[in-house]
Amino acid sequence: MSFGSRLNAIGKWIPNGRKIVDVGTDHAYLPVLLAQESKITGAIAADIAEGPCAAAQRTVDLYGLGNIIEVRCGDGLSIVAPGEADIVVIAGMGGVTMVDILEKSSPVVESLERLVLQPMNRAELLRSWLLQHNWHLHAEDLIPEGDKLYEVIVAEKGTCEKPIDDVYYEIGPLLLATHHPLLAKHIKRLMDRYAYLLTAMDNSAAAKHSEKYQEFLRRKNKLEELYNENYSS
Ligand SMILES: C[S@@+](CC[C@H](N)C(=O)[O-])C[C@H]1O[C@@H](n2cnc3c(N)ncnc32)[C@H](O)[C@@H]1O
Repeated sequence: MSFGSRLNAIGKWIPNGRKIVDVGTDHAYLPVLLAQESKITGAIAADIAEGPCAAAQRTVDLYGLGNIIEVRCGDGLSIVAPGEADIVVIAGMGGVTMVDILEKSSPVVESLERLVLQPMNRAELLRSWLLQHNWHLHAEDLIPEGDKLYEVIVAEKGTCEKPIDDVYYEIGPLLLATHHPLLAKHIKRLMDRYAYLLTAMDNSAAAKHSEKYQEFLRRKNKLEELYNENYSS
């Protein structure tokens, strides 16, 4: 079975010989992919909902990988003890849910070597949380799949960095510093989102005079400035 470019690109951030937890595993495709490549020594495929847990167990049984992958049903990392895994992967959820999962299980999170995160939105919240909780950004990637662009954030324990403008948390400081090949498309999408929000707010006088409107405008302008700095000829 092909597991898709997104899961393959996430999997490349798992070094060999580690034990992982895949939070929100759904069908357990990522742990199965990594076990098939003999990359991991063990995995906990975790999900909050019974349907995905049952689907995960079916996939694990189908591939005969029950000796490597254990399915556990529960909220976030509540079903994991500190030291049971080296790396936690959380993919395909919103940034708010991810921060909540990390926040609620600090002893487990503190025992990890690496976090591999693929938020569907609000990546800036996640980056900001990481940098305020003794993690640093080890790598960032953008993965195209269909008409989507997925962000991957790889964090390791280490010095907190100085807080930076939220706009950089939105773009991804490493994507910017390394001039990721898909960065222009990524910044353009962020700019378009603010343009859309501002246009919607233009219809209401109260919204147009709100602090939120001014903040969105500031961010859109800052994104435009960064885009022009990097991509205008
Ligand atoms: C869209 S799927 C993502 C599946 C897979 N991780 C991927 O990236 O393809 C999101 C999964 O996260 C699970 N989920 C949502 N909140 C969760 C939580 N707090 N703890 C564990 N799993 C959660 C859902 O039940 C669902 O199966």
